[in-house]
Amino acid sequence: MIQGQYEAVRVEQADGITWVILNRPEKRNAMNPTMNREMVAVLTELAVDSDTAVLVLTGAGEAFSAGMDLKEFFRDLDDDPAGRWRARQDAHRWQVHLLRNFPKPTIAMVNGWCFGGAFTPLISCDLAVAAEDAVFGLSEVNWGIIPGGYVTKDLSLVMSFRDVMYYVMTGKTFDGKKAAEMRLVNEAVPREVLRERVVELARHLQRLNPYTVKACKEAVRATWTMSTEQAFEYLWAKQDQLRWVDQERGRDRALRQFLDEKRFRAGLESYDRTR
Ligand code: COA
Repeated sequence: MIQGQYEAVRVEQADGITWVILNRPEKRNAMNPTMNREMVAVLTELAVDSDTAVLVLTGAGEAFSAGMDLKEFFRDLDDDPAGRWRARQDAHRWQVHLLRNFPKPTIAMVNGWCFGGAFTPLISCDLAVAAEDAVFGLSEVNWGIIPGGYVTKDLSLVMSFRDVMYYVMTGKTFDGKKAAEMRLVNEAVPREVLRERVVELARHLQRLNPYTVKACKEAVRATWTMSTEQAFEYLWAKQDQLRWVDQERGRDRALRQFLDEKRFRAGLESYDRTR
């Protein structure tokens, strides 16, 4: 269980799921320097928290996040180079480094408005589920800037060239259904079942071998930028390493239960973790 009082973030924990809630609903959860600083602390602590099996990132009230705080993160820091450096470092650390390398599965639950800078934590989460009527927008063009930070780079990891160009250049919004169609999120569901669907997904992940799930996500992320030959080497090394790291010895159990005991069909279900 993590300790600490935060001003702009709320953490709730129940049955292995840790809900990290961006908590400035009156500002549509715009990410100000306080929130960024607190998120660094929260994710650093949660990374080694034994009560966290799955992390869900979401927003309080009617927004996931309206992006970087236009006042506190931008205008107030225009003449403060030191403050700007700190704020950018904190934002980068939690949104990219800590969230992307989080040692447990992460799910973005997009409950409402999702604009600009909010695309970075959204894409940094392993999986994403949106409310069908959530509204997404790369609105930067509307106020004279480009989607900065990591946003522009990240978009092309998950969306097609034409879709990225269209939404970055026009600033037009799209809803959760369209986000799912473009594969920016895994799925979009009616708002009233959003939480239930996310819990169901989290429960599925919780039932699997955590060492394997962690290695799977690390392998996907690491090989994104590798050459074919590097990926070949890396993946075999990772595979071999997992046999040492996996305290559950999943591979041995699964092979025994499938090949010797004929107890399960590996293509359709996981091995029995209790045997
Ligand atoms: N930065 C700072 N403050 C923001 C903000 C942001 N990104 N997004 C919203 N807010 C603030 C508003 O200034 C307002 O503050 P106030 O009550 O002190 O005036 C409050 O949040 C509510 O915003 P409001 O526009 O009244 O809410 P809404 O529900 O009518 O509309 C949005 C919601 C998200 C459509 C609208 O706030 C908006 O367009 N925000 C900017 C989104 C954006 O372009 N983000 C990109 C940043 S990278």
